[in-house]
Amino acid sequence: MLILSKTAGVFSRSPKRNVYGFLRSFSVCPGTLFPHKLVLGIETSCDDTAAAVVDEAGHVLGEAMHSQTEVHLKTGGIVPPVAQQLHRENIQRIVEETLSASSISLCDLSAIATTIKPGLALSLGVGLSFSLQLVNQFKKPFIPIHHMEAHALTIRLTNKVEFPFLVLLISGGHCLLALVRGVSDFLLLGKSLDIAPGDMLDKVARRLSLIKHPECSTMSGGKAIEHLAKQGNRFHFTINPPMQNAKNCDFSFTGLQHVTDKLIKHKEKEEGVEQGQILSSAADIAAAVQHTTACHLAKRTHRAILFCKQKKLLPPTNAVLVVSGGVASNLYIRRALEIVANETQCTLLCPPPRLCTDNGIMIAWNGIERLRAGLGILHDVEGIRYEPKCPLGVDISKEVAEAAIKVPQLKIQFDL
Ligand code: KG4
Ligand code: ZN
Repeated sequence: MLILSKTAGVFSRSPKRNVYGFLRSFSVCPGTLFPHKLVLGIETSCDDTAAAVVDEAGHVLGEAMHSQTEVHLKTGGIVPPVAQQLHRENIQRIVEETLSASSISLCDLSAIATTIKPGLALSLGVGLSFSLQLVNQFKKPFIPIHHMEAHALTIRLTNKVEFPFLVLLISGGHCLLALVRGVSDFLLLGKSLDIAPGDMLDKVARRLSLIKHPECSTMSGGKAIEHLAKQGNRFHFTINPPMQNAKNCDFSFTGLQHVTDKLIKHKEKEEGVEQGQILSSAADIAAAVQHTTACHLAKRTHRAILFCKQKKLLPPTNAVLVVSGGVASNLYIRRALEIVANETQCTLLCPPPRLCTDNGIMIAWNGIERLRAGLGILHDVEGIRYEPKCPLGVDISKEVAEAAIKVPQLKIQFDL
């Protein structure tokens, strides 16, 4: 790889020539300057090249990120070789900037934590091989990270949350409900049977040509839908939520996408608008699809809470529901989940939006969690591979379906 042979010279020099930098330049790795554990986290599973240094108390010493969103918006979706090339071009700079912002050198680290699963193979490969070069060169322990585990544990960086808690992870690549019993102890209650909600919203936004909308041109599809939905009336169109008769905690979004596609086609005909132009009813369609998405997510989450309480997996009151992943930054969806949380006497917690989307902090924090728990810390990285597909935890979704819990009807209605 192009960048890796240059790392020795760059990283062994401290960016700030202070006394610590001077001392460090004498020794390979003194290891005593920072009494706290420090972990460098590296994330390249999809389209963000991100890194951060976090200490064991959860302080973020520094972070940096390069987003590929703009490039992929232009190509109408992520093209894996393009994502790979952009990761390659940016990873060294992003790690350098992170270390510089943290005022530390690689020698000060307790470990390097990197997303190795699941994700785009070509993207994961860049982060992994870059990290392994650093690990080998600086003789640091390596902590392989599951991307969804990192999303799930982020809340413990921002809030005091004890195990167990329920987590709903909703992003462009994933959609799952899991009970988090420990740092790497998950029970999978349900997942999307097809695409993820972020993927569906991205596709609807593309079909609505929102990239041409002056207010949405630089936004991700999901964000553009949320933005436009505020100007629309969700009652103008009715889109039924999927899987209404399936009493499980699984999700489906492909049908919702096709129904919305059909609606758009119908409106284009009616308004005499060509595909690729913006419909006058785009905001109403965005509001309707966002509402149906929120209802679907709320219903499955409601069932998951009732299941966990019935099986005594969660406490009867004050249980915690965490929502994270890129789609969790959607305030309409959060409000719908708040209604569910109130109904079931749960506390709803969401990381701040910048920690809901992919970032290096969550990877570094997952590294700290694993370091503290003594889980999955590798001193020998021989044979380590990335895994594009990897389930999270023990799958008990069949048991959930067998329980066939009926969920009371909730009115998802509020003003934002
Ligand atoms: O977690 P994330 O950054 O990356 C992964 O997919 O892992 O999530 C990105 C997804 C995209 O599909 C994007 O459209 C969606 O999150 N998203 C949103 C919002 N902001 C980002 N979806 C709905 N509302 C938003 N405000
Ligand atoms: Zn993610």
